[in-house]
Amino acid sequence: MGTLSCDPDYFSLNVKTQRKDLYDREEELAFLEKSVELPITVVTGIRRVGKSSVVSVFLSDKPGMLVDLRETGPNPSARELFKRFEKALNSSRIKRLWQFLSERIRGISVGPFGVVFERGVEQSMTLSALFDLFEDYASSERVVFTIALDEVQEARGYKRLQAAIAHSYDYNKHVRFVLTGSQVGLLEDFLGERDPSAYLFGRAVSRVEVKRLSKERSLDFLNKGFYACGVDPPKELEKVVEALDGIVGWLAHYGNYKLKGLSTKEIIKNAAMLELEEVKKLRGKYYLPILQSLAQGSASWSYIFRFVRANVDTSERQFNEALKQLVKYGFVEKNKEGYSIADPVLRLAVSKTWKNFEDW
Ligand SMILES: Nc1ncnc2c1ncn2[C@@H]1O[C@H](COP(=O)(O)OP(=O)(O)O)[C@@H](O)[C@H]1O
Ligand SMILES: [Mg+2]
Repeated sequence: MGTLSCDPDYFSLNVKTQRKDLYDREEELAFLEKSVELPITVVTGIRRVGKSSVVSVFLSDKPGMLVDLRETGPNPSARELFKRFEKALNSSRIKRLWQFLSERIRGISVGPFGVVFERGVEQSMTLSALFDLFEDYASSERVVFTIALDEVQEARGYKRLQAAIAHSYDYNKHVRFVLTGSQVGLLEDFLGERDPSAYLFGRAVSRVEVKRLSKERSLDFLNKGFYACGVDPPKELEKVVEALDGIVGWLAHYGNYKLKGLSTKEIIKNAAMLELEEVKKLRGKYYLPILQSLAQGSASWSYIFRFVRANVDTSERQFNEALKQLVKYGFVEKNKEGYSIADPVLRLAVSKTWKNFEDW
């Protein structure tokens, strides 16, 4: 319904950029504000829990930019990474910084739509040098400049990014990094928490995890979201909250499509399909059987291994590698009982039980 106007707009499907459209997250925002003393803050959480939204709202009233690194990896080129920085600089709308950069680097100019990184600029300068320029800019403006790297583990193959962050950590007092990603991918892979040879190994970081909403908060989110659009909330909200397990991205998805008149079954099915597409991007024959083994809930390593082996040929090594990837990308969580699927919608998708939503 294009005519529907909602304020606050809790159900929009884009990353939230305005404080008023972000439900709650007081604690996370306060944590980000106060952890400015350390050059790196790490924001972890499962998929669709609201990491990008929290960071983007945090940046909305301060100098900085959000660099989207999704789908750059695992081995991005320098060209690709510089393009992501160019895009982030333009979204930031900090015109003084555009000017500042263009006056100091040959390959950067200012055009009608913002800064332009000319071809080859990535060969004539390094990311470290770019970060040093942010430092010079920030110190001349007497501000702290925040570089948020969203889903940074996706660019893990480009070691010079880690080297540049390490360099900036040590020398640039006005530059600060906020790194988002999944727990394992970010902390182990990118920061090299257990790898003494990693560039960022041993450097202190502040950490905050964005969590699921509780049942009460989920219900409150949905109710407020509908009222904000002048619409009476549907009767089924308790059941919806039960099914979507506090993942705010799915709650927003539900609200958005409900307002557009879709049935709950269609909405859940679309969500399930969306999630399966994401898993398919990983490409590999073990992922689906692993997820299917977890369709009913948590399972132990040995149960999953036996289940998978009954369905496809695999060695222990191949199996472990696939399981590790699923954890790294945040599809599967490791817990006391073994492993489980983090996202209820993915659980519905692999067990095909979204069909049960027929009679809602
Ligand atoms: N606190 C919030 N209030 C309202 N909507 C939110 C909130 N957090 C996330 N969303 C919505 O949920 C979806 C996923 O959010 P996003 O920030 O992209 O999550 P992540 O980065 O963790 O995958 C988006 O549609 C976003 O608008
Ligand atoms: Mg995100």
